[in-house]
Amino acid sequence: MAQGNFEVVVAGIRQLTPRVREFLLRSAGGAPLPEYTAGAHVALHTMSAERGLIVRHYSLVGGQDLADDARDTYRIAVQREDHARGSAHIHASFEVGTRLRIGPPLNNFPLDRRDANVLLLAGGIGITPIFSMARSLVRRQRNFRVFYAGRNAEGMAYHGELAQLAGERVRFHYSDTQGHPDLEALLREQAEGTTVYVCGPARMIEATQAAAARLGWAPARVRSEMFGAGFSGVATPFEVRLRRSGRTVHVGADTSILDALLNEGVPVLWDCRRGECGLCPLPVVSCNGAIEHHDRYLSAEEKAAGETLCICVSRTRGGELVLDA
Ligand SMILES: Cc1cc2nc3c(=O)[nH]c(=O)nc-3n(C[C@H](O)[C@H](O)[C@H](O)COP(=O)(O)OP(=O)(O)OC[C@H]3O[C@@H](n4cnc5c(N)ncnc54)[C@H](O)[C@@H]3O)c2cc1C
Ligand code: FES
Repeated sequence: MAQGNFEVVVAGIRQLTPRVREFLLRSAGGAPLPEYTAGAHVALHTMSAERGLIVRHYSLVGGQDLADDARDTYRIAVQREDHARGSAHIHASFEVGTRLRIGPPLNNFPLDRRDANVLLLAGGIGITPIFSMARSLVRRQRNFRVFYAGRNAEGMAYHGELAQLAGERVRFHYSDTQGHPDLEALLREQAEGTTVYVCGPARMIEATQAAAARLGWAPARVRSEMFGAGFSGVATPFEVRLRRSGRTVHVGADTSILDALLNEGVPVLWDCRRGECGLCPLPVVSCNGAIEHHDRYLSAEEKAAGETLCICVSRTRGGELVLDA
């Protein structure tokens, strides 16, 4: 097992909506799992008989209501995507008793509890970290509002729980009947100096940032987390050889090079996992298949030169890739 990972057992399953299922993951040995703060997520490592290793990331929900889950338990909610590989595998194969590995909690979307006024903004399955933040703010009696948009109430995970938790501070938006929300109007109604935490589809995050910019808000007042990463194509498995250590790691069709290396305990740097931040690129020593660059960080010239590659989203079309790591 790669260092820092934990073995857990699926201890409970709840169907929240037709497409979203909640899983309770309990520490296999009964020891407490690491503590985390609202906005954190874990990497879930699972093996598919057909597709091999699949690593996907899921936000920690924290609890069903105001009370925290027990210290040996994490709660996640997974939406089954239509085209999908990882989430479909999880829905199809996880049952009570299934054992799997998870990475330690990471938080790239931390809630600053010093914010005087907070607007939590969720789109679809983006509710998972937002629900956890709402719990945290209710418990600390902070000023906040929450806006949760989805197609309709039946398809929105934690709809009832959020209504119960946040009372009149929550506003629901149903796009089937109400169309797209007017995010600029929403921001305009907020108290002076409000900080926004938004999690949802890329379009919603971009629209929130654009609305804030039009209103003259400082960019730092909009904090976001996007679930979809940079890759959505058809991929081929291949081998990565690490020149310095001489190790070879298999990268399955449903896994990034980054996740395959982390799974084997290879120390590599990363942050965004979307091909944007520039922390993960590694020098390419050789590659006997075509490199597919899926990042937005490297320039067109750097991509054409093929001397470096963002391991979070880019890959090859088969063969062996040798990296200087
Ligand atoms: C921080 C974070 C928190 C998240 N929290 C939640 C949550 O609470 N609930 C939820 O339902 N979803 C969450 N997600 C999304 C989740 O991790 C999956 O992306 C989602 O379940 C869809 O996975 P899929 O395998 O079904 O779809 P796919 O489209 O197969 O894969 C989704 C992502 O996996 C990566 N990937 C797949 N194949 C490759 C490949 N060949 N090469 C490189 N990368 C590849 C890509 O990043 C891709 O965008 C979160 C994502 C992040 C980053
Ligand atoms: S982790 Fe940010 S570019 Fe790869």
